[in-house]
Formats: sequence, C-alpha cells, structure tokens
Amino acid sequence: GSNQMWGGRFATGPAAIMEEINASIDYDRKLYAQDIEGSIAHATMLADTHIISAEDRDKIVHGLNTIRSEIEQGEFAFSRKLEDIHMNVEARLSELIGPAAGRLHTARSRNDQVALDFRMWVRAEAEKTAAALKRLIEVLLARAEEHAKTVMPGFTHLQTAQPVTFGHHCMAYVEMFGRDLSRMRDCLERMDECPLGAAALAGTGFPIDRHQTAQALGFSGPTRNSIDTVSDRDFALEFMAAASICATHLSRMAEEIVIWSTPQFGFVTLSDAFSTGSSIMPQKKNPDAAELVRAKTGRINGNLVALLTVMKGLPLAYSKDMQEDKEAVFDAAESLELALAAMTGMVADMTVNARAMKKAAGSGYSTATDLADWLVRELGIPFREAHHVTGRAVALAEEKGVGLEKLSLSDLQSIHDGITEDVFSVLTVEKSAASRKSFGGTAPQEVRRQVRYWKKKLAKP
Ligand code: ARG
Repeated sequence: GSNQMWGGRFATGPAAIMEEINASIDYDRKLYAQDIEGSIAHATMLADTHIISAEDRDKIVHGLNTIRSEIEQGEFAFSRKLEDIHMNVEARLSELIGPAAGRLHTARSRNDQVALDFRMWVRAEAEKTAAALKRLIEVLLARAEEHAKTVMPGFTHLQTAQPVTFGHHCMAYVEMFGRDLSRMRDCLERMDECPLGAAALAGTGFPIDRHQTAQALGFSGPTRNSIDTVSDRDFALEFMAAASICATHLSRMAEEIVIWSTPQFGFVTLSDAFSTGSSIMPQKKNPDAAELVRAKTGRINGNLVALLTVMKGLPLAYSKDMQEDKEAVFDAAESLELALAAMTGMVADMTVNARAMKKAAGSGYSTATDLADWLVRELGIPFREAHHVTGRAVALAEEKGVGLEKLSLSDLQSIHDGITEDVFSVLTVEKSAASRKSFGGTAPQEVRRQVRYWKKKLAKP
C-alpha cells in the first residue's frame, strides 16, 4: 500500500530497493530521545500560542513519554517502511492517541526536525568529548608533575637531539589536547542556535514562538535564516574537524607509546590491563591499545572527508543527500570516545622507566649544544666557531668510543686550550635539562610552572 504520511498523492508504495536506499531508521533511531524532547517542546509551544488545544497537547506529551519508555524498554517495533525515527515516532503516537497525533506536525517539517535532533545529539557528544579531554589532560598533568625532573632524550628526526624532561614531553601533549578542548568548546558555542521552526525551508504562516522552543531546548536563541537552517550541517562538520585534529594528536602519542614500549627503547612499560599477548610467541607483550588508537584516526579523518564531500556543491535548501550525515558523525564520535578513554587509561597505568630514559638521554652526544653554549658563554667565542670546536670534540669522542662527558680535560684542551674543568658541569644530561630555564623550556621549574598554569585553567568552567 502507499505511505500513511503522504499516501494522498501516491497510487502505489515504494519499490523494495527504494525502501532499502531511503530508510535511515537502522541508524537514526539513535536520535529518539532528541526527537521526543523536540516534539514535546514543539507541542507545548503550539498550545501556548493557541495553534493546538491544551487537551491535544496533553495527549501528545503523554503519548510521547509513553513512546520514550517503550523504546528504552526495548518494546518499540521500529519499521523500515516508516523510513526514519521521526515517522516511526509519529506513527506510533497516532496508534496511541488517535487523531490528536496528526496535529503535532503543524508548523513543522522533518527538515527542521532532523536539523534539531541531530544538532542536539552532536551537542551532547561534543560535551562528552570535552569532558573526556579534560580527564586525559588531568592524567597527563599528574604524570608531568611526577616526572618534572626525569630526564629523557628529546628527538628531532627521531634521532637524539637534546636532553628534555619526561614531564616537559607530557606537557607538550597537554598543550595539544588543551587546544582540542578549546576547539570543542568553540564549536559548541557556534551550534548554540535552535533550528526548530524553520519548517521545510521558508518558515511558517502559523504564529509560532521560536524563542520559546529555543529556550525550552537549551539554546540561547533561534537560528536567524530558515533556508540556511535546514541546509546547514556545519555543526557536524566542525565537531568532526575538531575530532579529527584531536585524533591526529592521539595518533602521534600512540605512536610514541608504541616506540617507547619496545624492548629496544624500554622507556615505558604498559600495564597488563592495556596490553595483549601473542598466541604463538610467549615472550610478547603487545601495545594493541596504542595501535588501535593510532588506527582509529583513519576512520575519524575519513568520516570528516565523507561528510565534507556529501555537502560539497549541494544546492540550498534540504536535499536527501543530507541524510548521509549521521553515520559518519556517529562513527567518528564513538571512535573518538573509545580512543580518548583508552589513551587516558594507558597513560595513567604505564610505568615510566626513568633509568632507561636517562641512559638513552646521554647517548648520541646529546649535550653537544651545551658544550657549544659553554664555549660561547665562558670564553666569549662566536656560536658558529663554538659549533665547529664542539663538532671536533664529538668526532674525538666517537673515535674513542665514549660520551662527551667521558673525554679528559686534556683531550678537550687539545681541541681548544681555553677549556677548563668547569665545562664538565654542563655535560651531564640533568644539568643540560636544568639549564634550559627559558619561558616554556624543559627545566624542571619551568615544567612545574606549566603544570600550575593548566591546573588553574582547568579549574575555570
Ligand atoms: N531522514 C531524513 C534525514 O535524515 C529526515 C528529513 C527528511 N526530509 C525530507 N524532506 N525528505 O535527513
């Protein structure tokens, strides 16, 4: 038979394949709570503006509450014939309360309805993501404080560069996740406008009160342009863009954890709770959680590109293309939530092997810059010349198979006769790290200052 919502104009029902490509109920049922909340606000407003009677409103609200509990009890029979969550709910409402159900859709279209439901879903998800980011930052702050003085190699090109502290390295990630948190808050602020009442695209002739529904649904006001309102999915794109950048950060940290936890590096040991074994090699402890966090980035970034591509070139206003917005966002949100939680657990649980870090920090002549700086500071020679002198000291140490700090004073004096015993005070990795007290540098006191800054910042709402 033909459709019960628009059957008036149709002689026959849809082809099976039409139903298959058209129906979104298999995934958009996730929006049931937002759909019902939006409909209750709409019905309430319709009664307050005398568009429907108080009696019909009461029936509608009661019916919608019944439907919500049916869905939550798993007693609701979702139907693909009814296409999407909006029509599934409305059809059930009509079974429950009869003709009054037909008044709910007055001055409303599925176009503004879906824009509202989806925006409220994304809003809740962005809030959850912000809270998860906060938890990860807090764990990193605790580890940074604990390891403000723990020396490790800092890398460029993944080659040992200069000694840094593990706390400083943790705080680099705090900065990254802090920007992610701020991006989540920014997109929440921009999506804080209510689409309901834009109707199909042109607004409505009924005397609705969009300010009332906006307020009831927790928005600071209604959207300003009805055509834009039903065409706009920026809120979803922005959420996914912020999610993608965040996932990219997570992937870099995950990659470092994979490297650090190899027996060759041995900088960290992952807890059993965040590792897996091998079915054949009994000695193995694999960083699967870190690898999966690294991999989730692929689908999160892919989802962003998928929706950007759906929206590209779409004429105003609504086109059914926009129904393809949901799965991408659902998947991105779910993947990011998992990745954030796994990273938070891993970082909280992992053992930091300070001895292995320190040993590695001293390899590869990592204090060469300190020697050059000492020559500039103490002997007043130009940096470029100091660079050259230090290069010769490194070559000599390499020839002898020792670290810079193990060269004798006479070895060093054979390269530059101004060098004194005092030079050894900058050649250890601890002294090197402690000397870098410039604002934002790696010295323990600077790391502690960064930690204080972020604790204060996070305490603000
Ligand atoms: N299921 C649709 C979606 O997700 C709802 C809006 C349908 N509107 C329409 N004009 N066909 O986008």
